[in-house]
Amino acid sequence: MGRFYVTTPIYYVNAQPHLGHAYTTIVGDALTRWHRLLGDDVHFLTGTDEHGLKIQQAADAAGKTPKEFADSIAPLFEAAWERLEIANDDFIRTTEARHYRAVETLLKACYDAGDIYLGKYSGLYCVGCEEYYVEDDLTNGTDCPIHKRPVQHFEEENYFFRLSAFEQRLLDWYAAHPGAIVPDFRGNEVLGFIKGGLRDFSISRTSLDWGIPIPWDPKHVTYVWFDALTNYLSAVGYGQDQQRFEDWWPVNYHMIGKDIIRFHCVYWPAMLMSAGLEPPKGWAVGGWLLVGGEKMSKTTGNVVNPLDLIDDIGLDGFRYYLLSDTPYGQDGDFTYEGLISRYNSDLANNLGNLLSRVATVVAKKCDGIGPAPAPNSPLAEAAAAAYAGTALAWDQVQPSRALESTWHLIRATNAYLEANEPWKAEPGPEVDRVMGDALEALRIVAVLASPAVPETSQTVWERIGLGGAVANERLPHSATWGGYPGGLNVVKGDPLFPRRQA
Ligand code: ME8
Ligand code: MG
Repeated sequence: MGRFYVTTPIYYVNAQPHLGHAYTTIVGDALTRWHRLLGDDVHFLTGTDEHGLKIQQAADAAGKTPKEFADSIAPLFEAAWERLEIANDDFIRTTEARHYRAVETLLKACYDAGDIYLGKYSGLYCVGCEEYYVEDDLTNGTDCPIHKRPVQHFEEENYFFRLSAFEQRLLDWYAAHPGAIVPDFRGNEVLGFIKGGLRDFSISRTSLDWGIPIPWDPKHVTYVWFDALTNYLSAVGYGQDQQRFEDWWPVNYHMIGKDIIRFHCVYWPAMLMSAGLEPPKGWAVGGWLLVGGEKMSKTTGNVVNPLDLIDDIGLDGFRYYLLSDTPYGQDGDFTYEGLISRYNSDLANNLGNLLSRVATVVAKKCDGIGPAPAPNSPLAEAAAAAYAGTALAWDQVQPSRALESTWHLIRATNAYLEANEPWKAEPGPEVDRVMGDALEALRIVAVLASPAVPETSQTVWERIGLGGAVANERLPHSATWGGYPGGLNVVKGDPLFPRRQA
């Protein structure tokens, strides 16, 4: 038990929320829900990134001021997260006063430390990335490696952050904090970047207004990375409420996609070190969801709207697919066939079928009253293994493995029913024993699956006669065999997950 602070990236408001944004946000949501079950005091932050050239250009195209434009898009993210039942504790926008104060405070701290200086920048810039590149980085010598569009030549006076001074300190820090980046192979990638040599990076522009003025030289504004990264501090009181800040910082996990690993795992800890703050405790780096082999993005034009998928397959079908289908860290291919096939096999045939056959047998053979489990049930061991596996997987931010472990218990319970065939037996103690065990397994499944499929878990919980919110259960106690009291009304409702045609 303790404090557990998790963030998602703050998403650019030049695009509407798409499946890629939903993916990272749902993983963060499920992780924090798991920690709430553990009894941690959780703070889950998401928000929007609203400054910079990219937003300015999108606003111009829409005939709006950048602020009006941001005001029109940010609520779409908030509304999408509400539809996805994202339990964020805060939603930060980089146009908020609290954020300006934090950025100013951090800029001053790094400036006073001698790590910010004025220089001239001349280089190749990708507006999509809001980042300079050198020629070696480019695809075909001309194009941004991510957006596959030509970069532009920019030249102006900029303030720079002295990243080059932090190579050794970063290497030392990572050596002292093994496993801070999960999965491991992403950590190795970061060490590779650092060992490859670090260049100072530009943190301000004079050719643009849509950013946060540099306090000591306000004709410069800072935007994108120095601005954006600082949101993680602004939201917990940095520069404003020192006590609150100390309560929450350092963050436990930044959830990020692999596209922004360099900023989060190289720039950001260096900025924090410069300001005398502690680097994050952890980063959980996800791969990309690909559609037709390409990263889904507004620029690529292969965007899938998560809200359309929820209308089609249901919220938990959608959440379950994203969490289970791709090991977090790897790239995953989004396909509609994959979504339907996961839904049918894991949700309809396994979980849905288990609940429905348990409710049917209890109605027919136990007068609709769920019996208590046996203390020495053959399923008790499967339940203990499911808990251990689920807990270990969440500890490593591996939702797909967590669900696999939980689903082992579902399969074991279905197999137990098939071996005992209570539907063929006469009512009596033997049937009661088997059904009590199955109900107890369902109770534990509802708890363990609740971070991923909160609505479904609550439904299972209520159908087997339990009261209150499954989200209020506490681990490990609630996963311990024997918690189902028996004597409860078991309800046979509609199928949880009606089978879908492929
Ligand atoms: O980069 N697959 O914002 P952004 C998986 N504002 N995840 C995806 C994805 C995909 N196809 N597309 C996007 C920014 N994401 C900055 C961040 S943070 C201080 C500033 C997710 O709107 C993934 O988490 O481009 C990725 O890192 C993030 O959205 C980028 O969102
Ligand atoms: Mg992006």
